[in-house]
Amino acid sequence: MFYVGLYRLFCSGIVEIRKGQRNYPDNNYKSEVYMSKKIVIKLNGKDVEVEKGQTILQAAKAYGVDIPHYCYHPGLSIAGNCRMCLVNVALKNPRNPEAPAKWMPKPFIACQTTVSPGMEVDTESEKTKAIQQAIMEFLLINHPLDCPECDQAGECRLQDYSYEYGQDRSRFIEEKNVRRIKNVGPHIALWGTRCIVCSRCVRFLQEISGTGELSVFERGDRSVVDIHPRREVDNPLAGNVVDLCPVGALVSRDFLYKARVWFLEHTNSICNRCSKGCNIRVDSLDGNIKRIKPRMNMAVNEYWMCDYGRFGWKSIYSDDRLLSPLRQSAPVDWKTAYHELKDTLTKAKGGGIGALVSMYATNEELYLINQLAKKSLGIEMIAPLEVEVKNDEVFPKFTIPGDKQPNRKGFDLILGETVSYDQIMDEIESKSLKSLIVFGGIPDYQYKFELVEAAEDLKILILFDLMKSDLTRIAHLTFPMLSFAEKSGTYVNADGRVQRFDKAVEPNFPAHEEINILQKMIKIQSGSQKTLTPGAIFGRLAREHSSFKRINYKSLGDQGQNIVL
Ligand code: SF4
Ligand code: SF4
Ligand code: FES
Repeated sequence: MFYVGLYRLFCSGIVEIRKGQRNYPDNNYKSEVYMSKKIVIKLNGKDVEVEKGQTILQAAKAYGVDIPHYCYHPGLSIAGNCRMCLVNVALKNPRNPEAPAKWMPKPFIACQTTVSPGMEVDTESEKTKAIQQAIMEFLLINHPLDCPECDQAGECRLQDYSYEYGQDRSRFIEEKNVRRIKNVGPHIALWGTRCIVCSRCVRFLQEISGTGELSVFERGDRSVVDIHPRREVDNPLAGNVVDLCPVGALVSRDFLYKARVWFLEHTNSICNRCSKGCNIRVDSLDGNIKRIKPRMNMAVNEYWMCDYGRFGWKSIYSDDRLLSPLRQSAPVDWKTAYHELKDTLTKAKGGGIGALVSMYATNEELYLINQLAKKSLGIEMIAPLEVEVKNDEVFPKFTIPGDKQPNRKGFDLILGETVSYDQIMDEIESKSLKSLIVFGGIPDYQYKFELVEAAEDLKILILFDLMKSDLTRIAHLTFPMLSFAEKSGTYVNADGRVQRFDKAVEPNFPAHEEINILQKMIKIQSGSQKTLTPGAIFGRLAREHSSFKRINYKSLGDQGQNIVL
């Protein structure tokens, strides 16, 4: 009887919403106050000014009132199916706006109901709390007591709301629906029994990636999210469904049982796997990266990221990583390397020096390379070291750029006109260039055979890189580079947005930051110079380059700023 009552509450809510929207659309209001952009509603007894067209949930959030919700996600269409956001509402009669608002007999869902002038919203009375408790009880009917072993524990809305709105015991004595645990993609597993059928994952795969691998099958209390036969959730945006699942139903196979989330340290960062510059959060435990999640930035990636960026960090822990400086491919300590650097630069000077610089270099590194080239070492020509640009991968509401260089814009702005890669190759082959500095750091990059072959005849080859390669075998001096997660700096994305990333983990080898090595090189050539931090170098860049003016390293914050064009 009790559940029949709850079911009726669900259904009556739906009917009431439809009725409410049909009877009280905003454009029915004729007086001037109703036509203005801001309107006044009463939220838990207080008058507040809200945007016309906002939903109750959005308006309440703007005033710090969090209405519990599961199926609502700001990046997806509104489904209104979990009913967790039910609130009590009083409405004005549009034909008699002077009369007091009248409390509606049934609650409204806050995620879909838009505010209207004079509306009163109650999110916290005993009556509203009782509704939220009833919904929680309903959602927990089939849910297993899995928290101790569930990957989502600690960041699970079901767990949080259960604590806030739930009851301490279940009254359900009937048999629970139990679903199989299965892999639904190379990176994703589905714990069907934990699913509350909020349909966020289904909507994401329909609306954002447009791939539609998951659907809701069956009906009524048998409804279940599942994969279509002979399909896998393996599209390049698939990992986002794990992030947006509000419970532990869709979990990352990669992160599964790797860490309890409350022990993780979070660092804001920027993905460096392409020119989009998605805002990300690096989650680490004991100094080791455990996972990467997207961070909201409406000007860049909204709420999402792609799987190339999500799993790209694995190469940081590759066995091929360079862990110390090398002299003629033999490991040496840093003191010896710097001593060698002095001799090497002296030998190189005046004999035709070129540089190949990757667009994975940060703005601060590029600024120092420019100083080294123009003022101290006299590098005659600089060319970009690039990964081939492919076609963009276009999804209905997300594009993965084919240009994989994270800082092409910064490279062009800071280094100005450069020569082409082929020109450098010609100069090496004609022996006009006798020394070469390669500033690499491109993840998973393979140098072209022609470069390796030509480099064998160079008088001096100084290499900066992340991984061992054919070039480390022949370089006179090699410096190990740091990954994006092991240092701080800034990039300019393809749309001209300067974005800062912070060091998330310490490198697990004795490392020196590239900006310090470059400053050492400048010091060797032009005498003493104070060693500057990334922030101080950016300050100089902002003073000297008009595109960066008025941008301050600190004020970039966690959302970045556009350059001046
Ligand atoms: S799997 Fe997660 S996101 Fe998908 S419907 Fe179930 S609870 Fe919602
Ligand atoms: S779209 Fe580009 S920047 Fe964004 S996550 Fe993917 S690789 Fe990284
Ligand atoms: S959040 Fe409103 S019905 Fe689910």
